[in-house]
Amino acid sequence: MMNKETTYVPPVKIQGKKTQLVDFILENLPNEFDTWIEPFMGSGVVGFNATSPKAVFADSNPHIINFYNAIKNKEINHLMVKQFLQEQGEILADKGQDYYNEVREKFNKEHRPLDFLFLNRSCFNGMIRFNRKLEFNVPYGHKPKRFARAYITKITNQVKQIAFLIENNDWAFVCQDFKETIKMANKNDLIYCDPPYIGRHVDYYDSWDEQNELDLENALRTCGANFIVSTWHSNQYRKNTYLESLWKNYNTITTSHFYHLGGKEENRNAVTEALILNYEAKHRQEPIKVPIYRQIALDI
Ligand SMILES: C[S@@+](CC[C@H](N)C(=O)[O-])C[C@H]1O[C@@H](n2cnc3c(N)ncnc32)[C@H](O)[C@@H]1O
Repeated sequence: MMNKETTYVPPVKIQGKKTQLVDFILENLPNEFDTWIEPFMGSGVVGFNATSPKAVFADSNPHIINFYNAIKNKEINHLMVKQFLQEQGEILADKGQDYYNEVREKFNKEHRPLDFLFLNRSCFNGMIRFNRKLEFNVPYGHKPKRFARAYITKITNQVKQIAFLIENNDWAFVCQDFKETIKMANKNDLIYCDPPYIGRHVDYYDSWDEQNELDLENALRTCGANFIVSTWHSNQYRKNTYLESLWKNYNTITTSHFYHLGGKEENRNAVTEALILNYEAKHRQEPIKVPIYRQIALDI
């Protein structure tokens, strides 16, 4: 299980990633389970930090899965990433947006994992978004000298760390719908779900409606394994009413058990996140400070 000294930061960025909630989630895992099953892996930050020896990471977005399978199959490694980003970064610094658009067009035809990484780390806000024609359509991030030396070193380290984890554990990366992934679970496994929030239809691979939410609850209820679902609880204006209807028979814990709410203004306005569990939660009763997210540096 997780070594608390180390937090792994994945090389892929994605909107809605649970970086800040990793410790909160990991503190509430059951004491034992066989395989970590993650049907909505996104960046993978939660499962990578759970460091279960056996895991299934899945997502409906094939480019995320291709990227991690390319690391697993050793088609790409940290040294290739370093060289690629150095070369591409120089051209980007020279040509700017035109070059970004050129790579985006190439990626939309060839789907190469290194181009995916390049776009993901130079696009606007590190977003992953595809249109109905399955084309990556996020615009250029317009950061001058995007691939500066320190930034390339950071990404290269991230790839090296994740490659190490993948090589030393029995981890599978599968592109499929969440219902198929949940069917793979045995009763001693743990399923961690982080579905998109309802109503945010901004991406072809990442839309979510009420039927999806109903199907998720049904699949989890009938699969027999322990599960955790990440969702939102409330913000200043609204609350997630599904917690009082669809999910009412499960245990719910929120980050208000975790953050110092009411102190800083940014915390008062923040979304309160929730975890839904079908087993007894172990959350701390006393509020504790949000852990500072740390990345360890490796020599490369
Ligand atoms: C909120 S993100 C997960 C973020 C992840 N927990 C992290 O920390 O990076 C939701 C993910 O679910 C995937 N997804 C959306 N609909 C799906 C479906 N029907 N089946 C499987 N994955 C789906 C999206 O592609 C996206 O990567």
